[in-house]
Amino acid sequence: MRQPVAVYPGSFDPPTNGHLDIIVRATHLFPKVIVAVTDNSNKNPTFTLQERKKMIAEAVRRYPTVTVDTFSGLLVDYMTRKKASVIIRGLRAISDFEYEFEMALMNRRLNKRIEAVFLMPDEAYTYLSSSLVKEVFSLGGSVSGLVPESVEKSLKRSG
Ligand code: COA
Repeated sequence: MRQPVAVYPGSFDPPTNGHLDIIVRATHLFPKVIVAVTDNSNKNPTFTLQERKKMIAEAVRRYPTVTVDTFSGLLVDYMTRKKASVIIRGLRAISDFEYEFEMALMNRRLNKRIEAVFLMPDEAYTYLSSSLVKEVFSLGGSVSGLVPESVEKSLKRSG
């Protein structure tokens, strides 16, 4: 049986230790994990696509089965190009469920061979989000322990 390639898509603006937690969990389940940073987010990102890709690449350096890539357009089309069949998403709380449910069903409608797999991050990260990290940092709070070191450095440079 062919081993499935898993894609963990997101805007990662910036990546947090919660994202990293999900990536590590995915490496325990799948032989190859692609972290795919999207450029078509309507979120008006703080960091450029290449900055976000670089931050994740630094954070996952010690995991040889993880690669980091960027994509635009539909996720399912990107996955077809990469011969990937599993979408990894994190579920932090019930509040994530509805949004994730909608996306998973839409992706299934677009390509019925693609499955979504939901992983729960460590409970220490259930309240974490990229926007909260940026807000706390911009108001002078410490984000140490919430983001990888490379991200903390980038936040300091951008601030
Ligand atoms: N730890 C910490 N934060 C987490 C997290 C975790 N484990 N899981 C999610 N989050 C946070 C993120 O930090 C982010 O916070 P923010 O809103 O403050 O920025 C939020 O949850 C969700 O972000 P993310 O996981 O990056 O996903 P997204 O909603 O930005 O991106 C895509 C969703 C990229 C998967 C989706 O838009 C997509 O597939 N786009 C491609 C186009 C497409 O195919 N569209 C049709 C989809 S059906």
